[in-house]
Amino acid sequence: MRIIKSVSEMQSYADSLRMAGNTIGFVPTMGALHEGHLSLIRKSIEKTDKTILSIFVNPTQFSPSEDFGKYPRDFERDEKLAEDLNVDVIFYPSKEAIYHDGHSTYTIVEGLSAQLEGESRPSHFKGVSTVVNKLFNIVKPHIAFFGQKDAQQALIIKKMTADLNLDIDIFVCPTIREDDGLAMSSRNIYLSPDSRKQAPLIHQALKEAESLHLNGEKNPEMLIRKITDTLNSAPIARIDYLSIVNSETLLPVESTNEGALVVVAVFFEKTRLIDNILLTTSK
Ligand code: PAJ
Repeated sequence: MRIIKSVSEMQSYADSLRMAGNTIGFVPTMGALHEGHLSLIRKSIEKTDKTILSIFVNPTQFSPSEDFGKYPRDFERDEKLAEDLNVDVIFYPSKEAIYHDGHSTYTIVEGLSAQLEGESRPSHFKGVSTVVNKLFNIVKPHIAFFGQKDAQQALIIKKMTADLNLDIDIFVCPTIREDDGLAMSSRNIYLSPDSRKQAPLIHQALKEAESLHLNGEKNPEMLIRKITDTLNSAPIARIDYLSIVNSETLLPVESTNEGALVVVAVFFEKTRLIDNILLTTSK
């Protein structure tokens, strides 16, 4: 497994892989790898010839009040996990390699970036779409893998790829969860023991809404009320947003037909967790 830190070296290596007829799979991450990330890597290895993993804690997607400085970093551990899975390259650039002095060009996906997460974290998705676009230009993948856990991010990347005519397939993989239902996240380590105990209630509340929906409840307000009640039974939980939206436009739906997405962000003390569930008409 190679570790490449330089942008030009990564680009030349990607060119050589393509010249040799390989398909390139790409898994962009911010490191602190967990089973959610590993599931994307496994999918890439299954579907492509060479898998490139990037590890870059992207400063432009954090607001000044967020956790950029203390975001978990453990390159040695990540390297071992990637090696065990047969990743071909870890692209591990410095901040300066990605954002040279005077960098002033950004990629903004209008509309989708302003809603939900975008309301709570203005400019977050500007940072995400910019870095992912840059990484696409550096890694030159055929297929890039994202997690449904960050449903809005995956939609934004799909929209950016379509709008900019990028010749890259976006493959979205299911959310990987702990045994008690909590969606895996690098930020779960911030949870205090009490918060960690109460956090699985998020998934439980979403599952309750799913089963009400399957039993015929199509009124989003009723479902939102039920989810709110369940979440409020966790004394520490504080809902940031909770909405039932169209899974393509992310706009609120009037009735939960096929494909409505329940999206939620909940604070447990200072840690903000997000999750979602897609409502289907049959299970
Ligand atoms: P990060 O939070 O490290 O996540 C990297 C990828 O792993 C994303 O596509 C995310 O959706 C996916 N992922 C995270 N938790 C998951 C889970 N429990 N199950 C399945 N997939 C999961 O998302 C980012 O980094 C950054 O915004 C990035 C795209 C790298 C741009 O900086």
